[in-house]
Amino acid sequence: MATLDLESVSRRFGGLKAVDNVDFSLNEGEIVGIIGPNGAGKTTLINLISGITPVSSGTIAFEGEDITDMGPHGRAQLGIGRTYQLIHPVEHLTVEENVMVGFVFAQGMNMKQAREASKQLCAAMGIEKPGRIVSQLNILEVKKMEIAHALSTGPKILFLDEIMAGLNADETHQVIALVQKIASERSLGVGVVEHVMGVIKKLTHRVIVLESGAIIASGEYEDVVKNPQVLEAYLGGGAH
Ligand SMILES: Nc1ncnc2c1ncn2[C@@H]1O[C@H](COP(=O)(O)OP(=O)(O)OP(=O)(O)O)[C@@H](O)[C@H]1O
Ligand SMILES: [Mg+2]
Repeated sequence: MATLDLESVSRRFGGLKAVDNVDFSLNEGEIVGIIGPNGAGKTTLINLISGITPVSSGTIAFEGEDITDMGPHGRAQLGIGRTYQLIHPVEHLTVEENVMVGFVFAQGMNMKQAREASKQLCAAMGIEKPGRIVSQLNILEVKKMEIAHALSTGPKILFLDEIMAGLNADETHQVIALVQKIASERSLGVGVVEHVMGVIKKLTHRVIVLESGAIIASGEYEDVVKNPQVLEAYLGGGAH
């Protein structure tokens, strides 16, 4: 039994099938890439898994329990974490306060416990002076804070939606190392949505490729990128 199991999951928006009959599983300690051209359905898939968007059909199970009809808060409490493609930190709060949220709302800590837990997590993530307000951070620190924010809900599986976007090569490598560290230390299952193929190659154990909502290929990175249908999807689509 995988930690997370999706069976024949679809999501329609009017006439558009944003996610089309997807079977997907994610296990503890495993890092899986979710790739595909713009508009392929990657973010929608994460929204379905985290419960932000309800499925049109299909089932989602987590640790053997059917969670298809469960809302996002319940799923966060069970251990499904995520970051957002469009980040939305509360700019006028401190890093520490931003990261406290999950400890309070998903893990039920009081404010004092949450502040302490947040300080420890920020330190573990290499974020110095977490008493700073968010607008004082550089981009690498913002990314680390986004990951810390997601970890504060105590996830067993974590989805990262283009977390490397906007980083230079050196910063990207630092975030790759950080994701590898937290995945192995916490036995986290991680789903990584990323356009930069070098990141996917380095970070993931296996990959699924979405096109128009459907999985067109899956397997190890090296094999998947040679798949003619995948090449066609990228050349024909608008990948950047
Ligand atoms: N709330 C919504 N209402 C209507 N259509 C939507 C909604 N959310 C997503 N879509 C559509 O579903 C399709 C998949 O979008 P999605 O954002 O999941 O793609 P993506 O693979 O994450 O793309 P990108 O690489 O650009 O982030 C797109 O055609 C998008 O316009
Ligand atoms: Mg997206």
